[in-house]
Amino acid sequence: FSSFLTDSFGRRHSYLRISLTERCNLRCQYCMPEEGVPLTPKADLLTTEEILTLARLFVKEGVDKIRLTGGEPLIRPDVVDIVAQLRRLEGLRTIGITTNGINLARLLPQLQKAGLSAINISLDTLVPAKFEFIVRRKGFHKVMEGIHKAIELGYSPVKVNCVVMRGLNEDELLDFVALTEGLPLDVRFIEYMPFDGNKWNFKKMVSYKEMLDTLRQQWPELEKLPEEESSTAKAFKIPGFRGQVSFITSMSEHFCGTCNRLRITADGNLKVCLFGNSEVSLRDHLRAGASEEELLRVIGAAVGRKKRQHAGMFNISQMKNRPMILIELFLMRQ
Ligand code: GTP
Ligand code: 5AD
Ligand code: SF4
Repeated sequence: FSSFLTDSFGRRHSYLRISLTERCNLRCQYCMPEEGVPLTPKADLLTTEEILTLARLFVKEGVDKIRLTGGEPLIRPDVVDIVAQLRRLEGLRTIGITTNGINLARLLPQLQKAGLSAINISLDTLVPAKFEFIVRRKGFHKVMEGIHKAIELGYSPVKVNCVVMRGLNEDELLDFVALTEGLPLDVRFIEYMPFDGNKWNFKKMVSYKEMLDTLRQQWPELEKLPEEESSTAKAFKIPGFRGQVSFITSMSEHFCGTCNRLRITADGNLKVCLFGNSEVSLRDHLRAGASEEELLRVIGAAVGRKKRQHAGMFNISQMKNRPMILIELFLMRQ
């Protein structure tokens, strides 16, 4: 495995998240302010060719999984083409996408043909009116259609990301779990994380422990599944149910020790930690005509500076970080 992608704690970074755009067709409250976020001028965003050049380089060095994120990756017009071209990279085993689901039913047949192998869909409520309140747009039925299309086309499990916020959707946990009885879903409850401008506060965060207690009261037979290496999620299952439920405990029990992720923002910065401010522009080096070796040195130096773990719940909540959408989907910084 490449020394350039191995950090000073021995973590091997084999999973690359690439943001295809900062734009989004929704305005989720926990992600962005109503008016959206200031967008980078188009000329400063990575071109498709630049994305592929970088992807090729990372795969050559040992990356075997790429996840396309955003903003909303499915609003990039050439997303199908990008998947098709990534598919050709030898050594790349998984191409995933994290989407809000709005355009998914329409695009999935083409994406699947191009080689898309894994799908994560954000959905925070099962109540249509609440959906409109949380995301400040319409589209609940489109997202549900997207989820069903993914199941119909054989993706398994289809991961559903649900950010849990007190006073908003914490009363729906059991309804989400009930969905996994008949459907091959992995419903993932995510602890609410602070990003610039998302009005996070400690009281709105529902911790993993608290969520687990709620589930156990209804389903005492809830069973913990073995941990997958470098996964963000702790998985559980109710015996007899088709799907499973998981918890992403970014805040209460971070998983930095086994982190294998790097990310590239839509404007071409390499970010070695979701909660980090330190970024280096790969785009600028590419455009200055850097050779592969030079790029690798820049990447290696950034990976080498990666910290052991994020700053902890209280420090993170006070730091400045770009909103997740600007990191990737809607992002964070450290
Ligand atoms: P899989 O590849 O299917 O495991 O997906 P994922 O969980 O890595 O990615 P997804 O885009 O579905 O993100 C879901 C949630 O995972 C995000 O909301 C974050 O809470 C968390 N997450 C993703 N990447 C990171 C990371 O690098 N650090 C931390 N702390 N959390 C992350
Ligand atoms: N806290 C937790 N998760 C978040 N996401 C976006 N913003 C936040 C936040 N503040 C989730 C989205 C998406 C995933 C990539 O990140 O719901 O599913
Ligand atoms: Fe919502 Fe994701 Fe769009 Fe942010 S990027 S507004 S979380 S759909």
